Amino acid sequence: MSGLLAGKRLLVTGVITDASIAFSVAKLAQENGAQVVLTGYGRLSLVERIAKRLPEPAPVIEVDVTNPDHLASLADRVREHVDGLDGIVHSIGFAPQSCLGGGFLDAPWEDVATALHVSTFSYKSLAMAALPLMSPGGAVVGLTFDATVAWPVYDWMGVAKAGLESASRYLAMHLGKQGIRSNLVAAGPLRTIAAKSIPGFDEFEDAWSERAPLGWNLSDQVPAAKACLALLSDWFPATTGEIVHVDGGYHAIGS
Ligand SMILES: NC(=O)c1ccc[n+]([C@@H]2O[C@H](COP(=O)([O-])OP(=O)(O)OC[C@H]3O[C@@H](n4cnc5c(N)ncnc54)[C@H](O)[C@@H]3O)[C@@H](O)[C@H]2O)c1
Repeated sequence: MSGLLAGKRLLVTGVITDASIAFSVAKLAQENGAQVVLTGYGRLSLVERIAKRLPEPAPVIEVDVTNPDHLASLADRVREHVDGLDGIVHSIGFAPQSCLGGGFLDAPWEDVATALHVSTFSYKSLAMAALPLMSPGGAVVGLTFDATVAWPVYDWMGVAKAGLESASRYLAMHLGKQGIRSNLVAAGPLRTIAAKSIPGFDEFEDAWSERAPLGWNLSDQVPAAKACLALLSDWFPATTGEIVHVDGGYHAIGS
């Protein structure tokens, strides 16, 4: 086997369509020598159908990151397919409609709690559920949308992402002794199901196309996926608690 991830065993969450960032991660990872196990949430048969479009059809196990039973049994269920894990990809986000599209001041706590549970706390719970399968050199990688500033329409999802960015640093701190890294990719806007669920998402799209120094293709998940692969690989052995921007350079430019 050859390639950047030759011989690596990865758990990839977050595939729901072939536009999912996670689908591009899984595809590129297989093309670069990795063995991939997918997790699916909700519409399992749909995820299984999408999994067959990968270069190597990948097994799918059911994981709702808010379900303690799913998390408790995750390691055993992954072991049915691989004998250990070298990397985990957290590509999961969800917020109820009240939390997005300008509803920041009115969203009720129950909805905000759901957003934080699925999009923030799950980063830690997924990593801990898979930890028994990991060994030194392993990596956890997640996806954020730059949470250093407030964005129009992103509202509580922005707060959830700020929490995710912090959670990744804390995970880096707590798992560092075991030789496990935690890093995030801050992707620019991409047209996925998650993005389409945000009312007014096109505001981002126009801004990015106009301002990103390298330009930005809203339908190309490959640059973000490539950065995930790099962080999962052995080529960032001393990098943890980091956020790599894959946004055409947008974050570096003042308005
Ligand atoms: N699309 C963008 O513009 C963009 C930009 C930056 C970061 N991100 C982040 O990338 C990640 C992947 O999103 P995407 O854009 O590929 O969209 P997507 O809709 O393809 O993926 C989101 C995934 O989250 C999963 N999910 C939701 N609730 C879950 C739960 N309770 N348990 C397990 N899985 C659950 C869904 O099944 C889906 O597969 C998310 O964290 C998102 O916030 C997206």
